[in-house]
Amino acid sequence: MEALKGIKVLDFTHVQSGPTCTQLLAWFGADVIKVERPGSGDPTRGQLVDVPGADSLYFTMLNHNKRSLTLNTKNETGKRILERLIKKCDVLVENFAPGAMERMGFGWEQIQKLNPRMIMASVKGFGPGPYEDCKVYENVAQCAGGAASTTGFLDGPPTVTGAQIGDSGTGLHLALGIVTALYQRHETGIGQRVLAAMQDGVINLCRVKLRDQQRLAAGPLTEYSQYGEGIDFGDTTPRAGNDSGGGQPGRILKCKGWETDPNAYTYFITQAAAWPKICKAINKPAWVDDPNYATPNARLTRLNEVFDAIESWTMTKTKFEVMQICNPLDIPVGPILSMKEISEEESLRETGTIVEIDHPERGKYLSVGCPVKLSASPAEVKRSPLLGEHTKEILRSELGYTDNELDEILESGAVG
Ligand SMILES: CC(C)(COP(=O)(O)OP(=O)(O)OC[C@H]1O[C@@H](n2cnc3c(N)ncnc32)[C@H](O)[C@@H]1OP(=O)(O)O)[C@@H](O)C(=O)NCCC(=O)NCCS
Repeated sequence: MEALKGIKVLDFTHVQSGPTCTQLLAWFGADVIKVERPGSGDPTRGQLVDVPGADSLYFTMLNHNKRSLTLNTKNETGKRILERLIKKCDVLVENFAPGAMERMGFGWEQIQKLNPRMIMASVKGFGPGPYEDCKVYENVAQCAGGAASTTGFLDGPPTVTGAQIGDSGTGLHLALGIVTALYQRHETGIGQRVLAAMQDGVINLCRVKLRDQQRLAAGPLTEYSQYGEGIDFGDTTPRAGNDSGGGQPGRILKCKGWETDPNAYTYFITQAAAWPKICKAINKPAWVDDPNYATPNARLTRLNEVFDAIESWTMTKTKFEVMQICNPLDIPVGPILSMKEISEEESLRETGTIVEIDHPERGKYLSVGCPVKLSASPAEVKRSPLLGEHTKEILRSELGYTDNELDEILESGAVG
């Protein structure tokens, strides 16, 4: 049984943030009807194309398990069809630029009138305030949400991260808002508006950095490397390089092969409880009891020396050997895995986190499956729809149009 079976989602999303959200709902069993502009559809279908003539990986990897309906929502017949769909569906999700739904004639008030049970969920770049009208993409959100100012090295510029915390991160937040609103609807019988602003989502994910901002008032942040290096803290959370986010110092260290392999590195955490085992593993047994190294506080001003010693050891091992040796000793380490290694990792294939999908236009490709595993509702990943693949099916089965009516709709230019 699929957890969200019976829930119908009218999916007006495009690019990455919104599609991430509706893909999750589809994996959990909702019937997601992706409404796309006739002729072109979601712009990502044709972006970063690797197989000419086929939907891009950008699109196919974000739109699994959905149905595609082409509908011109600015055409009069198209508007009438959309009104009927709104009356039939439970959730409408959109991530257009601010005001686009209103310009289409389907703002929140209008939607409530058509279907008071409807949950209308939106991703916007910013919440209400001075920037609410701005269009926003991933890296803008990372910058406006505080992530970039806290990422990178102290002596370098602000840096964005490869993890799509602005787009996909906000899509995740929105999905939680939607299922919460669906739950509340069981009690109230009415829908509500759900908004996830990308800036808010990124700020939420940067929570620990706002924690550090406030801790600065009480003195320097001792777990940051710059403390041990005697570099002053200014008045804002600084960039921490690869320092560990928590109170246990950690860094990225070179492993065997680092000279030629850009990912021959390991993350190594000098967790206090594991200190004696670390000292023995790296052949520094005297550091276990030496008062200059024995306690976390004593080590804070010596972290460069400590990590240099650990690195001299990790450089004699591959990143996987470091893991094999440290794991049984409860020393927290992690190899820096490349995308190539992740795509080839058997255990990820077995759990369905990495899946191989067949597509009629592009053949086989790899994708990321559902990252959240429900024991009673396992997600089966199905290929993304071709543009308009389900238009007739949806108009017939959901709205009951006859073949003659379908011909008239086609002639009107409402679908295509
Ligand atoms: C992502 C973003 C910057 C893209 O901007 P864009 O390409 O200019 O696209 P817009 O969202 O402005 O919408 C495009 C237009 O297509 C129209 N359109 C979309 N689907 C349509 C359909 N099926 N039929 C008719 N018109 C349609 C919209 O009504 C809008 O028209 P309008 O500007 O006349 O009102 C913008 O949508 C945005 O800021 N979204 C919110 C934040 C967000 O999600 N960003 C991350 C994306 S990963």
